[in-house]
Amino acid sequence: SDFEGRLAFVTGGARGIGLGIVRALLRRGANVAIADISADALERAGDLLATGPERLRCYRLDVADREQYAEAAAKVQRDLGDVTLLFNNAGIIDSVSPARATFEMWDYAMGINLAGVYNGIQTFLPGMLAAGARGHIVNTSSEAGLHPAGSGFLYHASKYAVVGLSESLRAELAHLGIGVSVLFPGPVATDIVENTRQLRPDTAPTHSARVTQILDTAHQILNAHGASPNGVGELVLRAVESNAPYIATRNAIPEHLRQRTEAIAAAMADAEAFLANFQPDPAADQA
Ligand code: NAI
Repeated sequence: SDFEGRLAFVTGGARGIGLGIVRALLRRGANVAIADISADALERAGDLLATGPERLRCYRLDVADREQYAEAAAKVQRDLGDVTLLFNNAGIIDSVSPARATFEMWDYAMGINLAGVYNGIQTFLPGMLAAGARGHIVNTSSEAGLHPAGSGFLYHASKYAVVGLSESLRAELAHLGIGVSVLFPGPVATDIVENTRQLRPDTAPTHSARVTQILDTAHQILNAHGASPNGVGELVLRAVESNAPYIATRNAIPEHLRQRTEAIAAAMADAEAFLANFQPDPAADQA
């Protein structure tokens, strides 16, 4: 297969969607470095996958921490070789209501969901480019990176940013043999809500009753109606094979996305009509 013998680095690969991607990679003959912040989850994943150390290794890493990232990358290079497949997947679903936000909360949420992605790119891309090797990067955004849902503004901010980053990087790398795809999961059956609660730093503001309820509901929806993480892993690798720009997990344009696009189109039409009739005041322009 296209993946045989190549080395993949998967962040947040010890559980959920990341673990689904790892399984799909191993099935196709790739070698895999799993990086995750949870030592327990890494140990469980290692036991579960039962694959020899020449093909699979686990590394403890907080993707928000650049020093740790550099150390992990050096170990991977030593243990397994050059990474040519990068999956920036680690993420948390934390947010707060605007009234409770703090700078610490911004830094923590953006540090994982956004900086975690570009820390990965900045760590591995120069090597991929220098080697002139064929490579692929998959960044995990969310449907929440395409439309607002009326809660979780920090989560949305981080996930929208991952979309812009991925689309523009794809265009810039297209001629250099490195593909970039962005993953927009809809609901997927994982414990992200619970895992996020466990990983929350002490400095994070406590959730309001409203946000707690939103997160509880999200947890139920994901587990009752979410797609299978292993199925999503297969979808992701199919997209890598065909160098698809976008990877979705369900056939539904969310109503919010339609409404947002219509509202933007309306603002554009309105602007054109307004500016067509706008009479500049030369005196004001010179002032
Ligand atoms: P998960 O909680 O099952 O897996 C995420 C993994 O990332 C965990 O093993 C966790 O320990 C690890 N992680 C968290 N913070 C980390 C850090 N700072 N450094 C390294 N590893 C860290 O969650 P899931 O659902 O698999 O999420 C994966 C990605 O998919 C996330 O980016 C999430 O935002 C995104 N996503 C998930 C959706 C869902 O319905 N499950 C929907 C939309 C997006």
